[in-house]
Amino acid sequence: METSRKIGIFDSGIGGATVLKEILKVLPEEDYIYYSDSINNPYGDKEDSEILNICENIVKILIDKNCKVIVIACNTASAKAVEFLREKYPNMPFIAIEPAYKMVHDFASEEPTLVMATRGTIESEKFQLLYHKYNNNKTILLPCIGLADIIEEGNKDKIKKYLHENLNQYSGKIKNVVLGCTHYPLVKDEIEEVLGDVKFFNGAPNLARHLKEVLQTNNMLEKNSGNIEFIDSQNSEIKKERFMHVIEKNIITK
Ligand code: DGL
Repeated sequence: METSRKIGIFDSGIGGATVLKEILKVLPEEDYIYYSDSINNPYGDKEDSEILNICENIVKILIDKNCKVIVIACNTASAKAVEFLREKYPNMPFIAIEPAYKMVHDFASEEPTLVMATRGTIESEKFQLLYHKYNNNKTILLPCIGLADIIEEGNKDKIKKYLHENLNQYSGKIKNVVLGCTHYPLVKDEIEEVLGDVKFFNGAPNLARHLKEVLQTNNMLEKNSGNIEFIDSQNSEIKKERFMHVIEKNIITK
C-alpha cells in the first residue's frame, strides 16, 4: 500500500518532462509519477475517441497508484480529453496545459506570432475558442505534423531538417513563438536557429504556479522526499535516460 499521495503527470512520451521540470521548481518536496505513453506516440493525429480511451486508461493507472491530482502535460490530450475526464472523475483535480496564446495577448499582442502545435491541438474546439478570443490578427497557426514524433525519436539531424523545411519561410518575420506542444521546448535552440531572435511563450511555468495554488487551496500540499517514479508504456530504457536528462534528477523506475 502506497503511503504518500502523489502528483500524477502524463504525456505521449517525454515531452511532458518540460512541464515537470517547471513544476519541480515550485513543488520540490512532492512525490511524482510520470507516465510516458510512448507506445501511443504521437497523439497529434489520432481520432478524438482514441485519445479519450488512451487518456482514460492512463488516468486509471495513476488513480490506482494513489495520485491526488493529475497533470495533463500534453496539449493535444488536454484539448481533447480534459472535459471528458473532469466529468467522469469529478473527485480528481485535473490540471491541463494549453498553448500560451493568452500570454501573447497580455504581453506582446502587437507582434507577429507563430503558434506551433500538433494538428489535433490546432483543430480542437478548445484551442479555436482561445485563439478567437485573443486573436491579434498577426498570427499564423502552424500544425507541425510529425514534429513531436521526431523529437521523441531524438535524431538531431532529422529535427533540423524538419525545422528548416517548415519554418524557413517565416525566418526574420516572426517575433513571438507559442510552443503549443510540450515536446517543442526541447528544440527551442533549433527553432531559433531558423527563425532568428524570437520570444518564446510556454504555458508550463504558469501551469506549475496554478498547480501549487490548487494544492494549497485544497489543503493537499505534502512534504515528501521529491521522488519521481518514471513509467514508460514501452518500458523503454532510452526514454528513461532522455527523461532523466531533461529533468536532471535521479528517479525511481518501475
Ligand atoms: N506533447 C504533446 C502535446 O503537447 C503530444 C504530441 C503528440 O503526441 O503528438 O501536444
